[in-house]
Amino acid sequence: MSGVAELTDFVRAGGLFVLTGAGISTESGIPDYRRPDGTRRTVPMTYQQFLATHEARQRYWARSAVGWEIFDAAEPNVGHVALARLQGGGLVDHLVTQNVDGLHARAGARDVTELHGSLEHVVCVACGTREGRRGFQVRLRELNPQLPTQARLLADGDADVAVELERGVIVPACLRCKATTVKPDVVMFGESVAPEVVEAQMRAVERCRGVLVLGSSLKVMSGYRFVLAALKQQKPVALVGLGAMRGEERVDLVVREPLGPTLTAVCDALGLDLATS
Ligand SMILES: NC(=O)c1ccc[n+]([C@@H]2O[C@H](COP(=O)([O-])OP(=O)(O)OC[C@H]3O[C@@H](n4cnc5c(N)ncnc54)[C@H](O)[C@@H]3O)[C@@H](O)[C@H]2O)c1
Ligand SMILES: [Zn+2]
Repeated sequence: MSGVAELTDFVRAGGLFVLTGAGISTESGIPDYRRPDGTRRTVPMTYQQFLATHEARQRYWARSAVGWEIFDAAEPNVGHVALARLQGGGLVDHLVTQNVDGLHARAGARDVTELHGSLEHVVCVACGTREGRRGFQVRLRELNPQLPTQARLLADGDADVAVELERGVIVPACLRCKATTVKPDVVMFGESVAPEVVEAQMRAVERCRGVLVLGSSLKVMSGYRFVLAALKQQKPVALVGLGAMRGEERVDLVVREPLGPTLTAVCDALGLDLATS
């Protein structure tokens, strides 16, 4: 693997603001959005499309009914564990993820900011009531026994389900107001991250020594803005990922290697074992 020594030096200096993306979870079997050349594998449904028609919500929940179960069964991989080791070793000041899979916390990381929320909950657009996804899933399955249990998993807990099966889907209603506009409690495409959340991350960038991006194409501005802020403040930035990453020509270090083995090698080089995390 090339770049491990340089990355180890970058990490050893500590004070890191770490931003992770879908690439850190692909080794857990969860697909990312972009191919290595930066083009999209799938086009996600936007918030506006989701709200516009009942048919769109039937489509979303038909696919998510199957996709979420596979997504939910995923386990943290060695990359998540290595990052928790770096944090346990005191090298990470701030950890923010664009992922909605909860795998950092399950690998032992602490104080993770989930920039785009998590698929663990759903929320009613009409009245704001939140519900655990597990309970919602039980109702979704009970109402729709026709839906398959197996399908090809896509990014974000989406799955490839036959169009004919989407049409008859009964969307579970909000437990409080009975509206059928319950959505996953994540920032969907077409929505924005709350300004106070962005502000808190920007303050963390100001406090940090350097920014480390792990497994993100940085095509989405909600993550890329932190790299831009760091560059403006003339802080060092390192990117680790297999594919093209926005801004890579402007940063100090680019490591184009798979995250699991790379982060594990960095931890080993720093002498960080599991006991420190
Ligand atoms: N796991 C999840 O929760 C999940 C999965 C897919 C998409 N999303 C959502 O979609 C958006 C996607 O943006 P993004 O930038 O995070 O993802 P992205 O798909 O745009 O980029 C992922 C990057 O990681 C690289 N990559 C894939 N596997 C890798 C590996 N093993 N080692 C190193 N690099 C690897 C890819 O080449 C790509 O450059 C996010 O906003 C997120 O909310 C979340
Ligand atoms: Zn409601």
